[in-house]
Amino acid sequence: MSKERFEELLTEFHRIPFEERQARLAKWCDLDPQELQILKGVNALPVETAEHFIENVVGVFPIPMGVATYFNIDGRDVFIPMAVEETSIIAAVSSTAKWLRKMNGKITTETRGNLIIGQIQIPRVGDVESAVQSLMARKIELIEQGNSIVPGLVARGGGVRDLLFRCLPREDGTGSMLVIHVMCDPCDAMGANLINQVCEGLKPEIEAITNEKVGLCILSNLVDGKLAYAKVEIEGIDPEVGYGIQEATQFAKSDPYRAATHNKGVLNGIDPILIATGNDWRAVEAGIHAYAARSGSYQPVTDWKFDGKKLVGEFLAPLAVGTVGGVTMLHPTARLSLKIMGVQNADGLARIAAAAGLVQNLGALKALATVGIVKGHMRLHAANLAMAAGASEDELPRLKEELSFVLTREKRISLSRAKEILEVIRSTTH
Ligand code: COA
Repeated sequence: MSKERFEELLTEFHRIPFEERQARLAKWCDLDPQELQILKGVNALPVETAEHFIENVVGVFPIPMGVATYFNIDGRDVFIPMAVEETSIIAAVSSTAKWLRKMNGKITTETRGNLIIGQIQIPRVGDVESAVQSLMARKIELIEQGNSIVPGLVARGGGVRDLLFRCLPREDGTGSMLVIHVMCDPCDAMGANLINQVCEGLKPEIEAITNEKVGLCILSNLVDGKLAYAKVEIEGIDPEVGYGIQEATQFAKSDPYRAATHNKGVLNGIDPILIATGNDWRAVEAGIHAYAARSGSYQPVTDWKFDGKKLVGEFLAPLAVGTVGGVTMLHPTARLSLKIMGVQNADGLARIAAAAGLVQNLGALKALATVGIVKGHMRLHAANLAMAAGASEDELPRLKEELSFVLTREKRISLSRAKEILEVIRSTTH
C-alpha cells in the first residue's frame, strides 16, 4: 500500500473507536479476524501455553498494547506494537514521528556486527601467557568443537567465529584471571541458551588444555559485538528547539543523574517493543546500561547535535533481540507483533527498536526543552487518576475534562484533587 494510504489510515487514529482502529491495522498488516481476537486478549496467552513458559503459573498478566503511528524507518512505513502500562509513551513517540514526517525528517538504521559473547572464566591462572599460548594453538579445534555443540545454528549459517582472550587482574589483588570470550553469530536468535551451552560444553577441553580450573561459563549481556544504530535527521526546525535538544544532551553527558533519566526515556521506546515481541528486556536493559558506562562514567546512549540548520540524533547500543528462540515464536501475541511490523529477522527488529528509542528520546527532549514534560504527560495521565478516584464509565469523560481544566489552570493535578472533583460532580448530578 502507498504512503498516502498509510497516512489516510492514521487520520484520527487515536480518536476513532477501538474496533475501527483494529480494522485499519488489519488492513495495513493483513490481519485475519482470529488474529484480531488475539490482540483483544482472547487466547492471547492460553494458560496451557503459559505453563510451558515459566514455573508455578497461577495466571497470566495482561498489559495494554498499542501501536506507535507515523513511523517511516529506512523508507518503510510501519506500525510499531508497544506493550506498556505507562501513559503518554505511545502518544509522545507517535507525535514525534508525525512531526518528523511533516518536516521531511529521516530515520535510518543499521546493525553493526553480528557476534554475541560467551564468557569462560579461569579464576586463577599461574602462568597467563602460557595458558593463552596453549589455547591459541588449539583455537581452530576449540571453535570446531564449539560448533559441534550447536549443529542447528551452524546449519542456519551461524556458529562460533572466534575466541578472544582477556587477562584481568583479580580485584582481591591475588594474581590474575583469564577470561575467554567465545564470539558467536546467533543468526536470528537472541542466543543466550546457545552460547551458554557452547561455553559449558568447551569447559572440559579448556581445563584439559590449560591444566587450570574453569569457573563461570555464561553469556555476557554487554553485547558490544552486535550493536544497533539509528539516526534521525531533521531540518527547518525552530533553532530554539534544536539548540534546546542539543543542550539537553550536554546535560546528560555531564551528569549521570540526568543520563539515567535520559536513557530511561530512550528505553521507554524500546522496552515496550521487546515486551510485545516476547524478548528478554532485562538482558537488553543490562546491555544498554553497561554499554552506557563503558568509559567509566555513565553516558547517554543517544547524542543530539544542532548546527543552526540541521538536527542530527544518533543512537548506538547493544540490542540483542531474537525473532526465533525463547518465547518469540511460541507466544501468540509476540508472533503477531512481528507480523504487524513486517519484521523478517532479528536485525530488522533491533533496527526498529533502536529507531523507536531514538524518536522517543527526541519527543521527551523536545518537550523538556520547550513546555516541559508535565503538561502532556499529566493530561493523558488524567484518565488514570479519574479511574483511581473511582469514577464510573459514565463519570469518566466529565472528570477527565475537569482535570484537564485544573491542569491548565493550576499546572498540577493529583489523586486527591481528582477525588474532590468527583465528589463535586456527584453532588451536582444527583
Ligand atoms: N493517543 C495517541 N496519540 C496521540 C495522543 C493520544 N491521546 N495525543 C496525541 N497523539 C499523537 C498523535 O499522533 C497526534 O497526531 P494525530 O492526531 O494526527 O494522530 C500527535 O500526537 C499530535 O497530537 P496533538 O493533540 O497535537 O498532541 P500534543 O501536541 O498535544 O502532544 C503529547 C501531546 C502527549 C504527545 C505531547 O505533550 C508530548 O509528547 N509530551 C511528552 C510526553 C512524554 O515524553 N512522555 C513520555 C513519558 S513521561
